[in-house]
Amino acid sequence: MKNIIVVGSGVMGRGIAYVSAIGGFTVSLVDVNEKALESAKNELNLIFAKGLERGKISPELEQQAKTNLSYLSDLPKACSEADLIIEAVPEKAEIKKQVFETMEQYAPEHCLFATNTSTMSPTEIASYGKRADRTIAMHFFNPVHKMPLVEIVRGLETSDETAETIKKVAEQMGKETVVINEFPGFVTSRISCLVGNEAFYMLQEGLGTPEDIDKAIKLGLNFPMGPFELVDLVGLDARLNNLRYLHEKLGEKYRPAPLLEQYVKAGRLGRKVGKGVYDYSKKEELVKK
Ligand SMILES: NC(=O)c1ccc[n+]([C@@H]2O[C@H](COP(=O)([O-])OP(=O)(O)OC[C@H]3O[C@@H](n4cnc5c(N)ncnc54)[C@H](O)[C@@H]3O)[C@@H](O)[C@H]2O)c1
Repeated sequence: MKNIIVVGSGVMGRGIAYVSAIGGFTVSLVDVNEKALESAKNELNLIFAKGLERGKISPELEQQAKTNLSYLSDLPKACSEADLIIEAVPEKAEIKKQVFETMEQYAPEHCLFATNTSTMSPTEIASYGKRADRTIAMHFFNPVHKMPLVEIVRGLETSDETAETIKKVAEQMGKETVVINEFPGFVTSRISCLVGNEAFYMLQEGLGTPEDIDKAIKLGLNFPMGPFELVDLVGLDARLNNLRYLHEKLGEKYRPAPLLEQYVKAGRLGRKVGKGVYDYSKKEELVKK
């Protein structure tokens, strides 16, 4: 296992490319959007610089990882020498399908496919390619360079060999793993979506301000972040997509809160656009965290 391709250079893809490069792999980060690639490169350079400054990586490792990391817009070309392709495009079946069909067409036979989906079925995603035994979900967490876990989710036909290899790859990226079987929402998204959605219902009902609700959850329940701080980091659009999927698969308890839908319609998508539940142009202290 040497060459990793990460498809999608958004919130997650850029982080996955970073931990892959730090783990010693040769990495190509691919996106259809040149601006997203540019923004990924700038953010990763900042993360490298902070890692150096804080002594988390050595100057040699930084140099090596940067040399091993390239930014591309041509997916078919990138696929041709891949040993593992990790897909991190938006949580929409039609986009993932198109990407997996391209991967299947251009990747070598031995190449493993992984999806970073938060909620969708790895079995269904595997059906978009033709190598279900070599396809699996690698669910990373945001921010990828800080969060210790990769939730590895086997689809119906994922082979033991694929699961073993992916576990080793995640460990080489410096991550802890759990290997579980597929069910909508896995372990983490199922709980996180429920808590996050309930917080929007509370806000909608006028129970308290976002600050009050976040403080109660953090100090009363010992959560490291409040649900609104977290959803601003995750992206309100990403959370809404996840909730819609879980609502369809698991029923009423996942019906997205109307207030969340309204925020998304208003373009309040979270930190990535400067405003979500909180307004980051005014809340400097939250931006710096
Ligand atoms: N945001 C989170 O906190 C989080 C956490 C865990 C998992 N996920 C999952 O990770 C995946 C990506 O989420 P994100 O938040 O990084 O999304 P994002 O919107 O930040 O980034 C997606 C990127 O994919 C690119 N893209 C779209 N179509 C493409 C194509 N055909 N080829 C190449 N690139 C393409 C877009 O230009 C964009 O840069 C989703 O499945 C999501 O559910 C997200």
